[in-house]
Amino acid sequence: DILLGRRLAGFIRDVPDYPRPGVQFKDITPLLADPDAFSSLVELLASMCVRRGATRIAGLEARGFLLAAPVAVRAGLGFVPVRKAGKLPGPVLARGYELEYGTATIEIQQGAFGPGDRVVVVDDVLATGGTAEAAVELIRGTGAQVAGVAVLLELGFLLGRDRLKRSLDGDRVDAAVIV
Ligand code: PRP
Ligand code: MG
Repeated sequence: DILLGRRLAGFIRDVPDYPRPGVQFKDITPLLADPDAFSSLVELLASMCVRRGATRIAGLEARGFLLAAPVAVRAGLGFVPVRKAGKLPGPVLARGYELEYGTATIEIQQGAFGPGDRVVVVDDVLATGGTAEAAVELIRGTGAQVAGVAVLLELGFLLGRDRLKRSLDGDRVDAAVIV
């Protein structure tokens, strides 16, 4: 939905030199603060998840939670948190990934997903794709199928979509806004 995407893009604020000089931060808080925009976004992402045949929605801590939880409710599907290390009671499955500076680890609870599940991973932003890729690999390791990745904003020039094609068995990324 190109018109809706354009409207939603108007609620994302560019913040130069944050959190570091040379980086342009995408601030989604104006969108969250506008009930019409937020609800249109949730509706759009939920329809993307349903179209991918999702049976479960995985949300990526922290900003992905803001979208994935209402999307799961709207789609009538269960929500599963993918959390940063040490936040979930065990047993957990963990996976490390590279950040611009250093590394991070994400975790899911064992048994959260299993064979037969079709999971859509929901996050706010797809940048390099490192975070989403780690989540996809973690979920695939349980025997579940990853039906797609759905985000509010894709930074196309960072080629995260191409990176994810390898783990996702083709182009299964849906973005409300692409810049
Ligand atoms: C941000 C953003 C995405 C990720 C995108 O999360 O919310 O999850 O980076 O970047 P990538 O595609 O290059 O991996 P961040 O780790 O900053 O933390 P937060 O969501 O907890 O704020
Ligand atoms: Mg994040």
